[in-house]
Amino acid sequence: MRMYDLIAKKKHGEMLTDEEISFMIDGYVKGEIADYQMSAMLMAIWFKGMNDHEITELTKVMAKSGDMVDLSPIEGKKVDKHSTGGVGDKTTLIVAPIVAACGGKVAKMSGRGLGHTGGTVDKLEAIPGYRTSLSREDFFNTVKKCGVSLIGQSGNLAPADKKLYALRDVTATVDSIPLIASSIMSKKLAAGSDCILLDVKTGSGAFMKTLDDSIKLAQTMVTIGEGAGRRTVALITDMDTPLGYGIGNSLEVIESMDVLKGKGPEDLTEVSLQLAANMLYLVGKGSIEECRAMAEKSIEDGSAFETFCTMVREQGGDDSVLKDYSKFPQAPYTAEVKADSDGFVTGMDAEKIGITSVILGAGRETKESDIDFAAGLVIHKKYGDAVKKGDSLVTLYTSKEDKLPDAEKLYREAVMIGDAKPKKMPLVFARVEKDKVEKY
Ligand code: URA
Repeated sequence: MRMYDLIAKKKHGEMLTDEEISFMIDGYVKGEIADYQMSAMLMAIWFKGMNDHEITELTKVMAKSGDMVDLSPIEGKKVDKHSTGGVGDKTTLIVAPIVAACGGKVAKMSGRGLGHTGGTVDKLEAIPGYRTSLSREDFFNTVKKCGVSLIGQSGNLAPADKKLYALRDVTATVDSIPLIASSIMSKKLAAGSDCILLDVKTGSGAFMKTLDDSIKLAQTMVTIGEGAGRRTVALITDMDTPLGYGIGNSLEVIESMDVLKGKGPEDLTEVSLQLAANMLYLVGKGSIEECRAMAEKSIEDGSAFETFCTMVREQGGDDSVLKDYSKFPQAPYTAEVKADSDGFVTGMDAEKIGITSVILGAGRETKESDIDFAAGLVIHKKYGDAVKKGDSLVTLYTSKEDKLPDAEKLYREAVMIGDAKPKKMPLVFARVEKDKVEKY
């Protein structure tokens, strides 16, 4: 078999066989197929696509390129969750302890921030002492003890994806449904949970900017999950506007704890409850309505917050910061960005707001950059809110005073103020289950 022939085949829109897909991925991981040939293949896939069978096969081969985690020593159904990436998306910190408090099992490996989007591991590391790297035994014991453990991805989880993602990043081939779906699902299959809930973001801050593309991506990933024997559901949620008000690592931990204490922002609480209800549904705890009621109760009776605190202590973290937020390291410099006219917030560019938080130090400018856990921003006026000239739109937090002017300039560009109150947008647009799409 020759890679040249496979590239030519895909260039003409033909289907690759299972053997050809294995040859290509195994050869690439071993270094027998060069980056330039794989780049040509990625671009051919970008233009010609792949059918469901090819995508499922590609995903399985990518998953098997490294460790396949066996979670069977943990009793009960394990449920994983994945977000395609958003700004201010801290829902894992909320839904994982809710699901655990209601009897589900969450043994979850999360990622770091990517570009303008934050990552759960970076947020968890804002909690002093919290260890995101655990031995297999400690990981399993934490789940057995409190129903949940949140750690970073092990080095050898789907190495084919790691190599391919780096190549896609520099060959303008990230935004392809077969490639995104196989990338995400290869890691989910390798991570070993029985059920998978996908949060597919749609809008200005997401990879998928339109609802149709987001539904197509969700259907593709649900098909892959179900084809591999994992119960899989996807929700399509809004990422035109950042979720909640806080963006930045410790700011997002604080806001998540507010939700678990029953005093969080409405949008973040609502999306989190819908995600948690679907995860509980997947592990067989009842209908979506029953599962939602259980999730709400775990917030009201404090059990979800207590579960999170127990997990933090088990993983070496100081949970007193979750009760007294003033114990988090504080950013030495802050600035307010004030409205220069009256009106309504008619649009927010979530991607630019994410980049603003990166400029302030909340994300990485390069792979080697250190994160400033206290850096970020707290939004005061969101989409649809009325503003008066001089009102504070946002507070910026940083340890680097010289970053404030650039951050303020970009934030101003990200927020549109107009005369008319804009139409209210849904938080959840659709739910995709095997062979079923419900639009809300
Ligand atoms: N997240 C991933 O893990 N892979 C992609 O291709 C896009 C988002």
